Amino acid sequence: MSDDLDIDLNFEGIRVSTLRGERPIPFNAYIQIGGRQILYCRKGDTFEGERLNRLKSKKLDRLFILEKDREKYNKYLQDNVDEAFDVHSKKDLLSRTLIVQGHQQAVAEELMENPSVEEHYTMAKASCIRFVEFINKNDLALKCLFSLKNEDFGISQHGVNVAALSLAILRNFERPEVNITKLELLALGALIHDIGRQKINLPMETKRSEMSKDQLKIYKSHPQAGIEVLRELSHFDEVVLNIVSEHEEFIDGTGFPQNLVEREINPYSLIVSVANTYDRLVSLEGKSQAEALKFMIIDSMGLHPLDMMKALQTALKKGSLIK
Ligand SMILES: [Fe+2]
Ligand SMILES: [Fe+2]
Repeated sequence: MSDDLDIDLNFEGIRVSTLRGERPIPFNAYIQIGGRQILYCRKGDTFEGERLNRLKSKKLDRLFILEKDREKYNKYLQDNVDEAFDVHSKKDLLSRTLIVQGHQQAVAEELMENPSVEEHYTMAKASCIRFVEFINKNDLALKCLFSLKNEDFGISQHGVNVAALSLAILRNFERPEVNITKLELLALGALIHDIGRQKINLPMETKRSEMSKDQLKIYKSHPQAGIEVLRELSHFDEVVLNIVSEHEEFIDGTGFPQNLVEREINPYSLIVSVANTYDRLVSLEGKSQAEALKFMIIDSMGLHPLDMMKALQTALKKGSLIK
C-alpha cells in the first residue's frame, strides 16, 4: 500500500510542538478533518522556517501518525531533543532553542492536561534539569526564545518564556538568606504556573489592561483554580505548588489571590512573579523589551524586589535583548 492511502489504519495523536528543526521526519503526519486523517506532512519533511510558521499559524496542537510509526516518532523526538540540548552540538543556537522550546512546550502541555499521571511529572522534572543547563550555558537563548513568532502563543509557550526568564534572573542575583538549590523545580513551577488558566473561561490573549471588571474577577481566580487541580496530587513538590498559587502576588500586598507581602512569599514565587509580569507585558501586551522593563522599574515600582529587577535587567543585557 502506498503511504498516501493509509485508509482504515489506526492513528494516534502527536503534539505539533514536537516537530521542529531541520531533521527530516521518518514518518507521515496527518491532519484530522471531519473524523478522517488526511496526509499533511510527508516522510522526509522538515520543520523550520516557512513550514514551521505555516504549521503554527494553523493553531493546531495535534497531528496524527500511524500507530505502527510510534517507534520512529519516538526515535525522531529523542534524537532531535538530545542534539538540541547537547552542549557540544555544532548546530546554531537559534535552531537548538526552537527545538528546546517546542519540547518544553510539549512537556508542559502533557503535564497540564494530565497532572495526576506521576510519570508525566517525573519526565517534566527530568526535562527541566536539561533546560536549566541549556539556559544557564547560553545567555543568548533568551533572545532566541523571544524571536519566535507569536501566532500560537498560549499558556505553554508563556510558561517556557517565564521558566527561562526565572532562571536568568536567578543567575544574576545573590541573597545569602535565599537558599535556592533545586533549579529544576523553579523551572518546572514556572513552566506550568498558569495551569489554572485552563479552568477559567477567559482567552489567553485577552490583555489584562483591557479586561472588564467581570473579566478581571475571573482572571484573578486562576491561581486558586490551579491549586485546586493539584492539591490532592502527592507527587507535586511544594515549591511547584507554591509557584502556582503565589506567582501573581506582589511584595507590597497588592497582588492576588492572597494579598501576601514579601516575607510571606516563597523566594521561588517572587522570581516567577517578576518573570511572569515581564513576559505578559512583552508577549501579551505588545510592549518592547525596553518598554516592559521601564514599566516595571518606574510605573510599577515597589511591586517586585529591587535586586530581582536589577537581575532581570542584567539578564536582558547579557541576552542582548536591551542595551
Ligand atoms: Fe498567572
Ligand atoms: Fe502567567
